[in-house]
Amino acid sequence: KRPAGAPDRSLARPVTKVGIVGAGLMASQLALLFVRRLEVPVVLTDLDQERVDKGVDYVHAEIDKLLAKGRINQDKANRHKALVSGSVDKSSSFGDADFVIEAVFEEMSVKKSVFADVEKVVSPECVLATNTSSLSITEMAADLEHPERVVGFHFFNPVAVMPLLEIVRGSATSDETLATAFATGKALKKTTILVNDSPSFIVNRLLGRFMSEVSRIVDAGTPIDVVDGSFGGVAPMPPFTLIALVGPAIALHNTETLAGAFPDRFYVSPALQRVVEARKSAYFGPDGSLDPEVAELLEKP
Ligand code: 3HC
Repeated sequence: KRPAGAPDRSLARPVTKVGIVGAGLMASQLALLFVRRLEVPVVLTDLDQERVDKGVDYVHAEIDKLLAKGRINQDKANRHKALVSGSVDKSSSFGDADFVIEAVFEEMSVKKSVFADVEKVVSPECVLATNTSSLSITEMAADLEHPERVVGFHFFNPVAVMPLLEIVRGSATSDETLATAFATGKALKKTTILVNDSPSFIVNRLLGRFMSEVSRIVDAGTPIDVVDGSFGGVAPMPPFTLIALVGPAIALHNTETLAGAFPDRFYVSPALQRVVEARKSAYFGPDGSLDPEVAELLEKP
């Protein structure tokens, strides 16, 4: 059955090569998913060789884990590894890509300049997808020569496990682009839904509201471990464990976007801002206990 709002699937174009801009946490998980499900060449790109190598190494290591678990055989592991490559040069590696997805820093100007660069080297039909979790697809596409090829393609962390994919239509997105996005989402074995181009779409808007309330409770003096402990068994992951998983900077960016759009409903936590300013990427240590530096930052000044 065609997902609600999806255009006729006969309009979808084939995807034979995928380019990924960024080689960080989300980008490398995306590379793994695309190579496993589409079995086409996937190129990861980033600003420096070290990040690119780290991204490719992540994909290779995850393929090795699947092999060790007996989920795939040696032949498939070798084939999938050989399909993933990395480069610091988008112009030489994206020329024949027909689907490029960006998963770079959540800043509109950065995303716009990435798409402007990519547009110079790909064909006019190449889909430009963005994994943004909150920014406007319409605005991101506005200055491009072919804004009709831009679409939101929002995955959830951990990408290999979370079934949902939000597909976002901007005001210029064409039926062909949307149909290709739905066909690709299906090939990736995700549950696809069409969502409106509004701040943080559906899931992160709901999560942002939830995180706003949770932050208010902690900022009013209840310790994080008590709040997380109160979730035992009622949610797959307690709220601060979830913030640690997605990254405090992403969580903060999400509530900032939402507070800008709906100031009466969303709360930007000063404590979360302090954690992000201190560049703390995780709340919890390897043993699961609250990082003492984070605990200090979360106390009221
Ligand atoms: N990467 C890859 N696979 C992972 C993983 C990761 N980071 N974490 C867990 N998995 C896999 C495990 O390997 C395991 O697979 P297997 O059954 O094949 O061995 C499977 O997931 C289950 O893992 P576990 O048994 O270790 O742990 P749990 O049963 O506790 O499940 C969880 C872990 C699936 C992460 C679960 O805690 C969960 O659903 N958490 C909520 C995550 C969530 O809400 N994500 C959305 C965040 S919002 C977002 O991403 C949007 C963004 O824009 C901010």
